[in-house]
Amino acid sequence: MDQELLRNVPIFAELTEADLEVLGRLATRRRYPKDGVVFFENEEGSSFFMIVDGRIKVTILGDDGREIILSVLSGGDFFGEMALLDNEPRSATAIAVEDSELLCLNRADFQSVVSANPRVMQALIKVLTNRLRKANHQISTLALLDVYGRVARVILEMAREDGRRLKDGAIAFRRATHQEIANRIGTTRETVTRMLKDLQRQGLIAVEGREIVLRPDFEKSFD
Ligand code: CMP
Repeated sequence: MDQELLRNVPIFAELTEADLEVLGRLATRRRYPKDGVVFFENEEGSSFFMIVDGRIKVTILGDDGREIILSVLSGGDFFGEMALLDNEPRSATAIAVEDSELLCLNRADFQSVVSANPRVMQALIKVLTNRLRKANHQISTLALLDVYGRVARVILEMAREDGRRLKDGAIAFRRATHQEIANRIGTTRETVTRMLKDLQRQGLIAVEGREIVLRPDFEKSFD
């Protein structure tokens, strides 16, 4: 059963049936309720996690206690690899945003599957490179854009990650809370609410039920 789940984790896609079976026996399942903490930043890390179901946010706490969301990961994504690769403490806190189910590998098993399978190593490096690209993008967003541009950029990223493209080119995506948007860009909930109202007034976004729809003009303006 876990073998099937592992096949859906892209970094393990190239493993043989036999390897997947071994890995399936080594992995353990863990469930976390909404808001459950998988681990805290700065703890010692001894496990690698893959998301079977649910969503996990990766956050760091600013000196003033404010939470900054680095990323929200979902089914097929993995996390917790950094502490195992460089033997440093956890670089961030991982918290379930909704009820989530994870597969977990211990340090020794993770290291042996990575070192025995060059394709897993390559796939891992590819994902880490992509995370670095996104982080670079995030740095430029924070450093170069004013708060209005940051709100726009972050909702465009969320829509592209999670959303579905409509026939007219608009993108609809599940509405995040204003606090979650604020925590991604280091601003306040009130500011996000104000900015979203303004974007709505300009006809660049629409709120439809539980979704936000970004009109095609929105993408042209803020890409
Ligand atoms: P680790 O440092 O062991 O624990 C925190 C985890 O969060 C880290 O491994 C990565 O898996 C993940 N992580 C850290 N920074 C980012 C980021 N910028 N984007 C996505 N995931 C991250």
